[in-house]
Amino acid sequence: MKHIAVAIDGPSGAGKSTIARLLAEKFHLYHLDTGALFRCLALYAEENNLDINDPAAINTILQGAVIKIQVMGKDVRYSLNNSAVDKSIRTESIGHSASLLSQNAAMRNYVLELEREFAAHNNVIMDGRDIGTVVLPQADVKIYLDARPEERASRRWQDLNQQGLECDYTSVLNQINQRDFQDINRLLAPLKQAKEAVYIDSSQMDIQEVLERISAIIQPII
Ligand code: C5P
Repeated sequence: MKHIAVAIDGPSGAGKSTIARLLAEKFHLYHLDTGALFRCLALYAEENNLDINDPAAINTILQGAVIKIQVMGKDVRYSLNNSAVDKSIRTESIGHSASLLSQNAAMRNYVLELEREFAAHNNVIMDGRDIGTVVLPQADVKIYLDARPEERASRRWQDLNQQGLECDYTSVLNQINQRDFQDINRLLAPLKQAKEAVYIDSSQMDIQEVLERISAIIQPII
């Protein structure tokens, strides 16, 4: 049986996960946040004090980290060595390490298998950097969700402030620019718009507008 696949790619902080979660609920799809898988690998490195710049660390991660994707009701959960992962994968330092680890071929292949296996058995909306280009080239719908770096930084800065985490706008913007640079310029599966993807710049749009715009694209295939 063929399953539905929706791919949403774009840079860090463009709102992909938030939008994908809302779309998943609306169209009864499972939302797979593929960044979370790379973040689990980074968490394993952090918990085991591994230096991710040391090539030996990659083997240690491959031998020791077992990530599982589980469906619980309407939700998708991730576990690392049988422990459910929580907010601890959402820190800036884990995001930064995930971005560095994601440049490695063995790390990407490990995650690629998990992603394709999940898509083979579920109706899915997957968000990431290479979903439309590499992971699911046959996806039914491909979206490239973008926003100006200053706008993404401002949204992230507001989020962090609302969580009571003090931070400085300029350093948030610098982190976003650094992550974009790493993701766009890496050799393997770099962040780029798939040929067939619909490009959406959400800089001047609120969540509701983005949701409506993408819903209109998904609706015909459901
Ligand atoms: O999206 P998120 O910020 O959680 O992703 C963390 C890092 O994982 C990204 O900066 C990117 O380098 C990497 N990633 C990737 N391919 C994906 C998803 C995430 O390389 N499909």
